Amino acid sequence: MKVLVVGGGGREHALIRKIKDSKKVDSVACCPGNGGISYDAQCYNVSATDIDGVVNLAKEIQADFVVVAPDDPLVAGMVDALNEAGFKTFGPRANAAIIEGSKVFSKNLMLKYNIPTAEYKVFDNVDDVIGYLTEKNEFPAVIKADGLALGKGVIIPETLEEAIAGVKEIMEDKIFGASGNNVVVEEFLTGPEVSVLAFTDGKCVKPMVSSMDHKRALDGDKGLNTGGMGTVSPNPYYTEEIAKECMEKIFIPTINAMNSEGRTFKGCLYFGLMLTPKGPKVIEYNCRFGDPETQVVLPRLKTDIMDIFEAINNETLSDLDIEWSQEACACVIMASGGYPKTYKKGIEIKGLTDGQADGVTVYHAGTAISDGRLVTSGGRVLGVTALGDSLEAALEKSYKAVKGIEFENAHYRTDIGQKALKALNC
Ligand code: AMP
Ligand code: GLY
Repeated sequence: MKVLVVGGGGREHALIRKIKDSKKVDSVACCPGNGGISYDAQCYNVSATDIDGVVNLAKEIQADFVVVAPDDPLVAGMVDALNEAGFKTFGPRANAAIIEGSKVFSKNLMLKYNIPTAEYKVFDNVDDVIGYLTEKNEFPAVIKADGLALGKGVIIPETLEEAIAGVKEIMEDKIFGASGNNVVVEEFLTGPEVSVLAFTDGKCVKPMVSSMDHKRALDGDKGLNTGGMGTVSPNPYYTEEIAKECMEKIFIPTINAMNSEGRTFKGCLYFGLMLTPKGPKVIEYNCRFGDPETQVVLPRLKTDIMDIFEAINNETLSDLDIEWSQEACACVIMASGGYPKTYKKGIEIKGLTDGQADGVTVYHAGTAISDGRLVTSGGRVLGVTALGDSLEAALEKSYKAVKGIEFENAHYRTDIGQKALKALNC
């Protein structure tokens, strides 16, 4: 098979490495890919959001299967267009991807089908939101732009002034464009967060091993929200008992709800969960693999990933046993200094060796090849990932590898996995 992967970050690199391992796969192509991905796949300069461009590329290279990884093309209907052109795909169609594309949709779905989530109200104009927040006067408040916002559409103001400023930025200044036409105001929940990615063909749902993201830029969960600065798997808070509860109260009801709405979801459904004192609740759904969750989940997958993708495509997922390794996995993101705000690009990266150390894989997120040199080309640059017999061992290997890699102004958190280790030792 020739498999085309759409996207160009660390998540796509991790997917490509797994797809390359498949006994069914002869070659992998990627668009647009990145510097590191180009060692593993033939990269084509077609944007991940260019639906016609991707359909034409799939035709030109005669792809047997197309995996669409990022949210924007899924929400915009790239899978629909590929299916109409006759391609087999992995990823939801647009009418199901809306579960991530609109927070108003997902919150209303959860309310209608009794899926546990934070209480909420939806607003379509600034005055009403401000009036509501003023009257309620409970902080921190949680305010979310309705649409896609590069993972930055959630604000958690501590004061009314901050809340008003944030709402104005979203709804008046439109910092996230039309995504801010509507906002959701939510109850502030507390508890450990867990990411669970799940394979589903719309008939059954098979959760993958759990993981924990570290969203803030700085140690101690300080600084700005980012796309994710590191991950570990498994997440020690996610016990078997909690997994069972989530299956019964959240995962199966969500798949059934989407079917009842005539929006069957096929692909990877990401459940962002908070384990609150009142039980697990959904913080967010994503219609795709998480980044950098994928980088710690897929290295633990033992089953041939193309068998899974084909089973989902054929709606025979319930017949397949998916196996996972018992090892732990850790991913430390090395970012450009300044991320998630402004940062320099084009800085040479040194210290990367082909195989790295045993059990260590460096997934490339923002790299490019310029004049034969590997250089930085984005905010998140590398995901330095290691498997180990324990979380401690995995973290030790990742951080050892991080120390051997250099680029000017590199920034990484030094406390990835510390919360998980504390939970394990309790
Ligand atoms: P999201 O982009 O929806 O994942 O939200 C970003 C982060 O905001 C989450 O990872 C949580 O830490 C936090 N968050 C979102 N919703 C809530 C909520 N209702 N209560 C408390 N924290 C929240
Ligand atoms: N790491 C969070 C996300 O992929 O949205």
